[in-house]
Amino acid sequence: MDRIKIVGGNRLNGIISISGAKNAALPLMIAALLTNDILTLEDVPCLADVELLIRILSNHGVDYSLNGQREHQTGFYSRTIHFNARHIVTTTAPYDLVSKMRASFWVIGPLLARVGEVGVSLPGGCAIGTRPVDFILDGLRALGAEINIENGYVHARTIKGLRGAQYRFPKVTVGGTHVLLMAATLAQGDTVLCNTACEPEVINLATCLNRMGARITGAGTSEIQITGVSSLSGARIKVIPDRIEIGTYAMAVTMTGGDVFLKGADPSLLCAVLQTLRKTGTEVIESAGGIRIRCTGDSIQPVDIETQSFPGFPTDLQAQFMGLMTRAKGISHITETIFENRFMHVQELSRLGASISLSGQTATVAGVDRLQGAQVMATDLRASVSLVIAGLAAEGETVVNRVYHLDRGFERLEEKLSRCGAQIERVRR
Ligand code: UD1
Repeated sequence: MDRIKIVGGNRLNGIISISGAKNAALPLMIAALLTNDILTLEDVPCLADVELLIRILSNHGVDYSLNGQREHQTGFYSRTIHFNARHIVTTTAPYDLVSKMRASFWVIGPLLARVGEVGVSLPGGCAIGTRPVDFILDGLRALGAEINIENGYVHARTIKGLRGAQYRFPKVTVGGTHVLLMAATLAQGDTVLCNTACEPEVINLATCLNRMGARITGAGTSEIQITGVSSLSGARIKVIPDRIEIGTYAMAVTMTGGDVFLKGADPSLLCAVLQTLRKTGTEVIESAGGIRIRCTGDSIQPVDIETQSFPGFPTDLQAQFMGLMTRAKGISHITETIFENRFMHVQELSRLGASISLSGQTATVAGVDRLQGAQVMATDLRASVSLVIAGLAAEGETVVNRVYHLDRGFERLEEKLSRCGAQIERVRR
């Protein structure tokens, strides 16, 4: 298995181009199942999760091409992908595929709406918590689906098609909002979804669905109205920039010092994060083409954060921010409110010399003057990159194991950082 080797201490200077968002690309790709026309997505990032979802969609019969060429001719480095789900060959999403990536469970919405029946393996738990799908299933039941769970599979079907309804999510869920939004586009009549996720990725999906002929209003607010249509057509849409990648690199620059322009970064995607970074003492300069992060002072000021759904501070940047706070001049408190078990990185950061104590859902971080390189290992995607951030500032060599987590969500991470002066390389095995 590959590892990432970092020798810390270098300041970052230069330009980092921001990729399309993984969390926007995945639901957009799944939306291809709603139509027998071609859905074209631009700026799809080259990531392991995207490749896996392509395999999952292929299992259902979805044909795809990259910039008009087949996969074996170009690899996955082309950024525009055309999907064609004209022939659905199976509505079963098997365990061996769904268990590898939770978001693949979301095929349940479009397949049920278009074909009327679907069997999807339950996704199971993951490192950051139990992550149930109960609200997704309740929402589909509200739209008239009959749902049975047998042998680890959710079997959903509708005899006369889905019917519009009102459904209130008991808790804000991004995946739940994506699934119900997709399902309701082909339901008969009007649907009102309440307490919906306001994340920019939901807006990206709703914009795409509207271009395909759906009638959706209110995406980006906590109430979405959908008037069902009988069929959807093809469309073309660009994946929005990855706000988690933007925030991660902004924190890496703040951690190491330096001056980096994040090209293509849209400040409106992460206002709460930029506000927090300013409080740490970093200069954040917003412009039309991106965001410049410039470190002027010598020290990082401690700042308390609490994760929230959008527009609050994202849970997907909590680990990275904790990495940053390990070097702050003082004590900070980091409270996780979205997932119950998202502090797996604490122990690994401690191996680098960080001083962190946990009490319930709050971590207290006492900043230290120096971190020291070590061998570390991560259990999830965002936790791994927090170790990279810490490694960039640590003295000596840090080796991050289980790099496949990073490859799931960060496109060409080591290349982007080394171009800005970081001493970072992939060690292949
Ligand atoms: C998405 C993101 C993930 C991010 C998360 C929260 C993608 C591919 N993944 O994950 O990176 O960390 O949003 O911003 O976009 N819940 C239930 N029942 C349900 C559904 C959710 O209890 O039926 C709970 C979850 O356990 C969790 C909370 O709701 O505590 C939020 O989860 P959710 O927003 O659904 O996360 P995902 O969509 O899986």
